[in-house]
This record gives sequence, C-alpha cells and structure tokens, in this order.
Amino acid sequence: MKYPKTKEVLNQLVADLTQMHMIVHQHHWYMRGNRFLKLHPYLDDVMDELADQLDQVSERLIALDGSPVSTLSEIAAKTKIKDEKGNWNETIDERYGKIVDGYHYLDDLYQKGLEVSDEEGDYSTNDMFTGFHTAIEKRIWMMSAEINKAPNIDAK
Ligand SMILES: [Fe+2]
Repeated sequence: MKYPKTKEVLNQLVADLTQMHMIVHQHHWYMRGNRFLKLHPYLDDVMDELADQLDQVSERLIALDGSPVSTLSEIAAKTKIKDEKGNWNETIDERYGKIVDGYHYLDDLYQKGLEVSDEEGDYSTNDMFTGFHTAIEKRIWMMSAEINKAPNIDAK
C-alpha cells in the first residue's frame, strides 16, 4: 500500500462527516427562537455541503482500494465528534456554537489529511482536501460571525 495514512484519514472523515451531518440535522430540527426563519434554512446549505464532501471523500477512498465505513454502528464506533440527545432548551447561539466546535475538529482533521497525503505523495487526495479544508474554514468564519465570535482558526 502506498497511502495507508491518507486512507485512514479518508475513512475517519467518512465517519465524522456523517456524524456532523446528523448533528446539524438535529439542530435544524430542534432550534427555536429569534432568527429561526433565517438560520433553519441556512443549515440546509451546511448539510448539502457536508453530504457532498462525504460522497467525494468516500469515493476517493474506494478509488484507492479502500472500504468506507457504511453502517450506523461502524460510524458510532469510529467518529470522534460527540453527540447529545436532542432537547428544546438551547438558544440558537448555543446550537451554532456546538456546530462550530465540530467544524474546528473537522478543520484539524483535514489539516492532518493534507499533511499525510503530502508526505505519502497522494497529490490527488491532497488537492481534494485543500478545497474542502478551505470550505470548512469559511463556514467556521460565517457561523462564528453569526454568533458574534471570531473564527479562531489561526488564534488557537
Ligand atoms: Fe429541513
């Protein structure tokens, strides 16, 4: 195998992008309060982007002779993003703060993917990761700005 570390990050992303999609869906469903009519549909765009990244990451793994996790039980065992039972009592700012926390984890995982794919010479995956990493950081900026916070991408 030429790209073992890259393939491990790809499969980790399959689990974590699936989990993040579920978490965003939960907040899309459970949110209430001011700005609902704007921020509920915004999360549809967020989910579309996550689903697109998930499909491309998974199919890149298959193109490299890998086998993506594809059951809820495998994803629950593998993801490193924590979930919580849905509740009606959080503010919209708290919900967006939790989504941004998950995005910071994805930002770090894509960064790791960029480093290992460069080290292993998998420049095609590296190229794909560059765009997705940039898109994740743009969402961090926008969702943080919505709740009056800095992106904290280079200030951690
Ligand atoms: Fe919906």
